[in-house]
Amino acid sequence: MFSKLIAWLSDQPALFLFLRGVLENDFRAIRAIIARDLAGRAGTRTLDLGCGPGAFSTLFAPETYVGIDINPRYIDYARRHFKGAFSVGDARSIELADSSVDQALVFGLLHHLDDTAVRAVLGEMRRVLRPSGHALVIEDIPAVSRVNLLGHLTHYAENGEHIRAPEAYQRLYAETFRTEHDETLRSGICDYYAAVLTPR
Ligand SMILES: C[S@@+](CC[C@H](N)C(=O)[O-])C[C@H]1O[C@@H](n2cnc3c(N)ncnc32)[C@H](O)[C@@H]1O
Repeated sequence: MFSKLIAWLSDQPALFLFLRGVLENDFRAIRAIIARDLAGRAGTRTLDLGCGPGAFSTLFAPETYVGIDINPRYIDYARRHFKGAFSVGDARSIELADSSVDQALVFGLLHHLDDTAVRAVLGEMRRVLRPSGHALVIEDIPAVSRVNLLGHLTHYAENGEHIRAPEAYQRLYAETFRTEHDETLRSGICDYYAAVLTPR
């Protein structure tokens, strides 16, 4: 019942953004880490994989930003509210040329995917990134504090059936990427593992 409600809410782009904003303190911690690790300037082509309704596109120069998401409702919302190139697509088979982006952002995508799909996404990300490029991947981890009941409940309900411990993400990343630096962080009630990856 609760899971169904969350699934329905997640498919309403405006509500999804509003609720996540409330639960995650307007994404202050996430925005800070993106600003630190990804350049927002003109000339740096950025791919946002699993961009959702496009909330983080505003951190980049619009003419250099490419957002891809599998959900047409999110892409429709993003096109109407934000600037940038948004397209419906599957991160496991990205419709971009080899070595055509300087940097990639993945926020909250991989915990929806099993290991086989994650490997496909990482392989595609590696293919479209320039050899000198890098990616910032921020993924949900199990709530760190046992008393963070809302965090546990949200993860339980949020069909993120592949939420992993940092070590499990590290093992998957290491097959294709080198981890330059990493950390765990708290965003509102949610805990994340963030890693900056460069192609091997
Ligand atoms: C938790 S949301 C995060 C969205 C966005 N990064 C944000 O933080 O607002 C996960 C997103 O991954 C998208 N997604 C799931 N599987 C995908 C796939 N195979 N290819 C592209 N996007 C996918 C979903 O549609 C959803 O928008």
